Amino acid sequence: MEVKTAKSAGFCFGVKRAVEKAYEVAGEKKSGVYTYGSIIHNEEVVGDLEKRGVSVLNSEEELKALSEGTVIIRSHGVPRRIYEVLREKGLDYVDVTCPFVLKIHRIVERESRAGRHIVIIGNKDHPEVEATRGWCEGPSTVIETREEAEKFLLEGHEKVCIVSQTTFNYKNFQELVEILAKKRYDRLVLNTICNATNERQAEAAEIAKTVDAMIVIGGKHSSNTQKLFEICKGVCKNTYYIQTLADLDSDSFQSIQCVGITAGASTPNKIIEEVSKHVRIKF
Ligand code: F3S
Repeated sequence: MEVKTAKSAGFCFGVKRAVEKAYEVAGEKKSGVYTYGSIIHNEEVVGDLEKRGVSVLNSEEELKALSEGTVIIRSHGVPRRIYEVLREKGLDYVDVTCPFVLKIHRIVERESRAGRHIVIIGNKDHPEVEATRGWCEGPSTVIETREEAEKFLLEGHEKVCIVSQTTFNYKNFQELVEILAKKRYDRLVLNTICNATNERQAEAAEIAKTVDAMIVIGGKHSSNTQKLFEICKGVCKNTYYIQTLADLDSDSFQSIQCVGITAGASTPNKIIEEVSKHVRIKF
């Protein structure tokens, strides 16, 4: 079996930095370490950190209930008010918000102060988008679908600033921006999609074109993995979404000669290597 593993598969710069920092803080503090939300969408890594004394805070209420400890802010970032809670409570914190996400926070803060309505192209339930909204000083709208873009209407505001969730699909971003362009608002469009995502998506599509089956590895809640899966499935109908090697269904690979492998930004190298080795040897 020939296996083509994408070079861009797995941890991006921001996630790698956040995970390494979480292990470093766990090693230094031994206890009382928390991450505000899971550090990444990967149950294995979160479980391993838990064994080393790092607990996950699942809500603002849980954060407010803390009286001491060190809180790690993950790569997705947090709304401004979370920093206020941390300061008010006198909690230590380690901020590993990805610099590319921080850049978006500064943009929306600046542009909303300048009177622009902020449009974030992305998923409104994604923590990164929630965090970005939390830096807007005025109104903001999240748009994910064509229908939402068509319906978008501003009353009293003529100026908009359009940014994107870092992991949004570039083609879809362009499509939504084109719909919004027809509305003739004074627009400032900033493509804030992260290059790591673009590269990973483009490479996955290239590989998917040339293989009989494609394996996409990532956590089931990882939106960037879901997008990778959609892209690969669009090119190669035998595309399988797995979290770990245990999810791989050997029967699906019986008459297959060549398999491609890619993985979302939260997938540790160890899992990618395990899957790649297994496919090479067993099929
Ligand atoms: Fe940062 Fe890009 Fe990763 S924004 S967290 S390097 S996908």
